Amino acid sequence: MTLITPEMTIASVVDRWPDAARIFARYGLSCASCAISKSETILAGATGHGGGRVNMDELMRDLNTLADTGKLPDNLPAANATAGPGGMKMRGMAEQKGIKHVIAVMSGKGGVGKSLVAGLLAVGLKRRGFTVGILDGDITGPSIPRMFGVREKPAVAADGKSLVPSKSRGGIPIMSMNLLLPDEGEAVIWRGPMVSGAIRQFFSDVQWGELDYLIVDLPPGTSDAPLTVMQALPVSGVVLVTTPQALATLIVGKAVRLVKQLGGDIVGVVENMSYVAMPDGSKNEVFGPSQGLKLVIASNAPLMAKLPIDPEIARLADAGLIESYESPESEELLANFIEVAPEKHPQVAVA
Ligand SMILES: Nc1ncnc2c1ncn2[C@@H]1O[C@H](COP(=O)(O)OP(=O)(O)O)[C@@H](O)[C@H]1O
Ligand SMILES: [Mg+2]
Repeated sequence: MTLITPEMTIASVVDRWPDAARIFARYGLSCASCAISKSETILAGATGHGGGRVNMDELMRDLNTLADTGKLPDNLPAANATAGPGGMKMRGMAEQKGIKHVIAVMSGKGGVGKSLVAGLLAVGLKRRGFTVGILDGDITGPSIPRMFGVREKPAVAADGKSLVPSKSRGGIPIMSMNLLLPDEGEAVIWRGPMVSGAIRQFFSDVQWGELDYLIVDLPPGTSDAPLTVMQALPVSGVVLVTTPQALATLIVGKAVRLVKQLGGDIVGVVENMSYVAMPDGSKNEVFGPSQGLKLVIASNAPLMAKLPIDPEIARLADAGLIESYESPESEELLANFIEVAPEKHPQVAVA
């Protein structure tokens, strides 16, 4: 049965069959700004992108296989392996640079602890013997350098063209707009293309060295800003951060759709500010009851951790000492992340 026709909009198909996003992505239709558009039909999308190289017959056949069987067809075109157009090229770029995995940390809205989770992931991976760097992709609210107490400007490399990232006390390379601005407090108001240009350079023109993981702190939200950054980088997986409150507001669903439409994968979700640990051992759920289970259902990804509101986090992050933070919950976050990370590295000894 032909349930899906070329005249249907991409958005309506993805809405009804979320996995169709993966098929579109494989056919080079992961340009989310278009895929997200409520009005663009499959036909218009396929003729407008990929230089007219999209094989409509095969695309329609694969989409209808999904609609009929509920399963993705077996022999889809080779994975683009990344968000955005030119994905193949970008993936190759990462390999060439010796960066194994680019993990983007995303949140529906600001202030939920996205940067904190990006920082904790990097710190924990480093402790476990992985090589890791942090690309602060939140151009307008860069908070990574402050959390790590890094102020030193990136040095110009010997080749005169690329930059050597600044290093944290613990030796984590960090690249942030914040480090390039004359004044730390200065605001950057840039339009999309400039942001993606800068971020692409943070990736390609920075000497990261060999990395197991490059953690990217995305701008908050589910609109242009995070999307632009995601498309500028060969992202291999997304970690979604939210709070018990945020789930109620449909933000999580939006974030999940955005990632899917980019052809990406949510590797895990983190519920931050889940509770406050009381002196009597009980948990005070100040932002309402934990939404862990609903979160897992909405994202179809594992819950990696519930992080409490911990004054120690706020204190250390403000003092630039996040590398000193330790807690059972952050350990759990790391253990679970390594479990679900795109590729395990069994040769690495756990410290
Ligand atoms: N679990 C937590 N306990 C205490 N403070 C937290 C926690 N998570 C985040 N914070 C603090 O809340 C503020 C916002 O966190 P941040 O990671 O910058 O959010 P985002 O990047 O999502 O805007 C920061 O000052 C941070 O130190
Ligand atoms: Mg932030």
